[in-house]
Amino acid sequence: MNYLSPSILAADFCKLGEQINETRNAGAQYIHIDVMDGVFVPSISFGMPIVSSVRPSTDAFLDVHMMVIQPERYVEEFAKCGADSITIHVEACDCIEETLQKIKALGVKAGISLNPATPVSEVLPYMNMVDMVLVMTVNPGFGGQKYIPECTDKIREVRAYINEHNLDVDLEIDGGVNLDNLQMNLDAGANVIVAGSAVFNGNITEKTKAFLQIMQEEN
Ligand code: DX5
Ligand code: ZN
Repeated sequence: MNYLSPSILAADFCKLGEQINETRNAGAQYIHIDVMDGVFVPSISFGMPIVSSVRPSTDAFLDVHMMVIQPERYVEEFAKCGADSITIHVEACDCIEETLQKIKALGVKAGISLNPATPVSEVLPYMNMVDMVLVMTVNPGFGGQKYIPECTDKIREVRAYINEHNLDVDLEIDGGVNLDNLQMNLDAGANVIVAGSAVFNGNITEKTKAFLQIMQEEN
């Protein structure tokens, strides 16, 4: 099953609820929430208050992407605020196993993410503990960047591993995904598609539907 996860980093925060509803009404199943700490990545975005405000206003699956060092400090609070999944970075945490277990114990789905420069081998030890692997297709920190073509092979590599080991793990991609490169990424094996600027810049309903049309042909 394929899922679209519009990234609200590209939304207009004065119209956040309205814009989330627009993607949801057009069929998007997830909402991607980019938490940046200004240390793991150069920029700062937002945190728990956004998750707790968004939670009661939508039934979309809240997909929290923590670009934060030592994410174990905050997973409990994000779970309380209503996250449905929490994804941590393999580069940002010294106690990955414990943190993933903590996330699961909170009743939340757990994801592990890797940056473009990080080899796939770094996340393989955790594949049995996660619900999702997030392959970054840009260097995290900003929306609106260009897709890094070298990442497509990493998507294939993760997909091959999931299939070979018969794992019930989703494969998410994030960064620079648009209507022109979507099919190539689906073919490589991605099934959760994050898109920020490609959904929120322009007509949100039309953009969401255009993504979903391509993605649903695959299901
Ligand atoms: C990048 C964030 C992404 C970003 C994607 O650091 O993790 O989720 O919002 O934005 P686009 O789709 O515009 O590249
Ligand atoms: Zn993200």
